[in-house]
Amino acid sequence: MFETLALPLMCAPMSFASSVPLAVACCTAGVLGGWQGGRITHLEPFARYLEALQEIGGAPPIVNLPARIATDPDGEAKLALLERAQAPLVLSSVGDPAMLVGRVHGWGGRIIQDVTTLRHAEKAIAAGVDGLMVTCAGAGGQTGFLSPFAFVPAVRRRWEGLLIVGGGIADARGIASVLALGGDIACMGTRFIATPESAVAATHREMIANASIDGIVVSAAMNGVPGNWIRESLIAVGLDPAALPDHRIEMPEGVRPWRDIYSAGHSVGLIDGVEAVRDLVARLRNEFDALVPSAGWRTRLAAIETEWR
Ligand SMILES: Cc1cc2nc3c(=O)[nH]c(=O)nc-3n(C[C@H](O)[C@H](O)[C@H](O)COP(=O)(O)O)c2cc1C
Repeated sequence: MFETLALPLMCAPMSFASSVPLAVACCTAGVLGGWQGGRITHLEPFARYLEALQEIGGAPPIVNLPARIATDPDGEAKLALLERAQAPLVLSSVGDPAMLVGRVHGWGGRIIQDVTTLRHAEKAIAAGVDGLMVTCAGAGGQTGFLSPFAFVPAVRRRWEGLLIVGGGIADARGIASVLALGGDIACMGTRFIATPESAVAATHREMIANASIDGIVVSAAMNGVPGNWIRESLIAVGLDPAALPDHRIEMPEGVRPWRDIYSAGHSVGLIDGVEAVRDLVARLRNEFDALVPSAGWRTRLAAIETEWR
């Protein structure tokens, strides 16, 4: 599956930003196409999305589910649909992946756990995952807090398998840094929000293109868990970014975090505009190939796939 990659890159699954057009464009362009499946509340659109993802040629899609999916009201039914679709890659987040490991392996898929601490990485390894995604400081969404310079090599000391790294990456230098630190694939979320294929409001894309790294505020006020938010979007709904407490607060009437208050990571300062996925990936590929002429990453990913068989 990895031989279809144009470069060692994944588009992150993101609530409110993932879309089938985004996943399809990424897979077609040769990037692992992340898609947020856990938050789709109705089974019918979930099934339609999976069918569309199944029909994509190119790089594989990667579906994100909460680790506790089986205990959700529609969880079993969603898992059955994933099984029917033979989803090749599942990204599990928030919680113990042990149950999902058994289910995903049952249909021959591979499971990758999203972690933000070494302890969670160790637990996921013990649970039998096939890969880890380490989310580091500067990530959009519910960010990690550890520096990639220390976190990625520390995980690599304990884990020889697939290692995806996300948080603050938006250019070829970031992708090359992931490989230098011992990772296998870089993950970009914020960068892919600023594409016409993402599902966000146009103002979210524009704010990403216009914000600088100093325009990102970390706060737990929106939903009780620390996340990175665009300062301008907080001001736009009447919140004072300098006066947010470190616990969840009542939102202004009619305001919904994620939909009306925009999340983005530190990489905003590297994003100059909205770019179609195809053009973005072609540009990143050229820049990456110039920076990292040897294709050692391909050999490494081929070896991981052989191990998985
Ligand atoms: C708007 C937004 C929503 C996100 N939603 C999710 C999610 O539902 N599940 C998940 O595992 N990660 C989610 N993330 C985090 C991404 O998977 C990824 O870790 C992050 O975007 C990488 O950092 P970057 O944005 O700096 O590239 C979200 C990120 C953003 C920006």
